Amino acid sequence: MNLQHKNILLGISGGIASYKACELVRRLRDAGAEVRVVMTDNATRFITPLTLQALSGHPVRVSLWDENHEAAMGHIELARWADAILIAPASADVMARLAAGMADDLLTTLCLASEAPMLLAPAMNRIMWAHPATQANAQTLHQRGASILGPAAGSQACGETGEGRMLEAVDLVKQLADVLACRVDKRSASTLHGKRVVITAGATREAIDPVRFISNRSSGRMGYAVAEAARDAGAEVVLISGVTHLPTPPGIRRIDVETALQMRTAVLQAMPCDIFIATAAVADYRPADPATQKIKKHADTLSIELIKNPDILSEVAALERRPFSVGFAAETEHLLEHARDKLQRKNLDLIAANRVGEGLAFDQLDNALSVLWADGQIELAHTDKSTLARQLIQIITERLESHA
Ligand code: C5P
Repeated sequence: MNLQHKNILLGISGGIASYKACELVRRLRDAGAEVRVVMTDNATRFITPLTLQALSGHPVRVSLWDENHEAAMGHIELARWADAILIAPASADVMARLAAGMADDLLTTLCLASEAPMLLAPAMNRIMWAHPATQANAQTLHQRGASILGPAAGSQACGETGEGRMLEAVDLVKQLADVLACRVDKRSASTLHGKRVVITAGATREAIDPVRFISNRSSGRMGYAVAEAARDAGAEVVLISGVTHLPTPPGIRRIDVETALQMRTAVLQAMPCDIFIATAAVADYRPADPATQKIKKHADTLSIELIKNPDILSEVAALERRPFSVGFAAETEHLLEHARDKLQRKNLDLIAANRVGEGLAFDQLDNALSVLWADGQIELAHTDKSTLARQLIQIITERLESHA
């Protein structure tokens, strides 16, 4: 476990597990980290700042209003200094305050003021941990990018047995080292820094009448995975999303639309950009004249006249300041022929083709892609959509560079 030259801000909140923070400081320092400790007021009722000062080698901070400390290293400076913030133990209360975005003490203020990765090691009575409020707060923090480490199951200080024990110091140090190593990997792969990427995702809905619509089986998962991969490569991402049940990935601007026409307007408003990736399953046709009232089932047959929707991707690829344009082709047969035809017809730089049909691609967690461009092709083997998305972003980046 290597934390050489890493600045770790250790937050300790109130809970009996705070005694384990002493060993944690030792282990962090053994792994090469520089450790500064911030305690909540409640934590000081379980363990003294003096103990942690002796172990960390630095004065421990508790209050936001300590003039001497603020003069030495102000709280914003401390927030910038941190390569990671680890809160161990993280009480139900500190998680609730963080989830609510509060900054009512030094520790929560630092968390709000820092862009460093945040890791939380919850420790509490098993019923408190299982409470829907705590679970919802943990989920919120996780969705915003925090790593929730544990808790483990076992006997608790309160005499109960169950989930809620803080992970052991050695496990916390290992997980922290993993998170930081992963960030370094991402940073070195940050090849889309300064690039603006617009992505469409999900299915459109075209109204037949006020209660019915035409749509398709797209879940939006592939597009959302591509958006996350582009964000992780350092891009500024705008995700123009049709109807899906997926949560908004942190760090991504999401614009919700319903129909193909709304998607077109949102896409054109988001231009110019460097890369446009159209993963959305846009309805090719829409009812020509949607009924204003619910259609009654009087007749034995019913015809709905459909008219063609504008092709958003072709339109973007034809713009004067055209971005690097990437399309998706979902086909049930003649996959590669159709994909190559689309590549040319829509004037694309790249196309990702996938076979769809019974149990394939749509609404599935896995997929496989054939990626084609004017003079090349790569097969991406069957795997989960986030792995595929990262591979696709890598190919796009390489193609983009060879274009420049
Ligand atoms: O022609 P086809 O619908 O198969 O093309 C698929 C590609 O074109 C996808 O990238 C899709 O997001 C995009 N598309 C679009 N607007 C449409 C239809 C498809 O942007 N109206």
